[in-house]
Amino acid sequence: MRIDAVTIFPEYFAPLKLSLLGKAQESGIVDFGIHDLRSFATNVHNQVDDTPYGGGAGMVMMPEVWGQALDPLMSTETDLIILTPAGKRFDQPMAANFSKASHLVFACGRYEGIDDRVRQHYLSKNHRVHEVSIGDYVLGGGEVASLVMIEAITRLIPGVLGNPESLAEESHNEEGYLEYPNYTKPQNWRDIPVPEILLSGNHGEIAKWRAAQAIERAKENF
Ligand code: ADE
Repeated sequence: MRIDAVTIFPEYFAPLKLSLLGKAQESGIVDFGIHDLRSFATNVHNQVDDTPYGGGAGMVMMPEVWGQALDPLMSTETDLIILTPAGKRFDQPMAANFSKASHLVFACGRYEGIDDRVRQHYLSKNHRVHEVSIGDYVLGGGEVASLVMIEAITRLIPGVLGNPESLAEESHNEEGYLEYPNYTKPQNWRDIPVPEILLSGNHGEIAKWRAAQAIERAKENF
């Protein structure tokens, strides 16, 4: 999978070199391109934003700068993702869908967002355009939101995780409930013992206990 991100802060994407994402890149499963929006600025001050038509607080990112940055990245293979708190809420099924894509482009808006004609333009050219929010809170920009999405999406690509079984077992899997609580060594830690059942070796009973615990946890947290 090819992933491009357009941002005025390319440094935000340094963590892509780490851990699973770094390894996925080394092994050629994913390939990242990070593009500095400001290098596409068309005026002498490298300006990327201006005041909103109709008035109001804040600044809006100018469409031509975005057009210059995005045009060379867009193809029929591309899913363009515009990060905005007003977008569709990102969740595990959306991550699973995007993990099957071949090319994702993340447009990281800042300030009051990107001039809406950018979205309209690429839609009118029959591109797949998605406005996505990672949650009901407002971030300073789309960079951190892109990183969240990239991590959730890429770990679902076959070959990225060492043990693919952990995908099926974990929280928010297809069955829709949360993962059961986990324990490792030592058997007793600060006077808290590991639940007996997990030491029993009875896999059927362990599976039942875990399912019940997962439901309990879901009730508490929702
Ligand atoms: N930009 C600012 N807040 C955001 C959010 N919650 N999700 C995606 N992009 C954002």
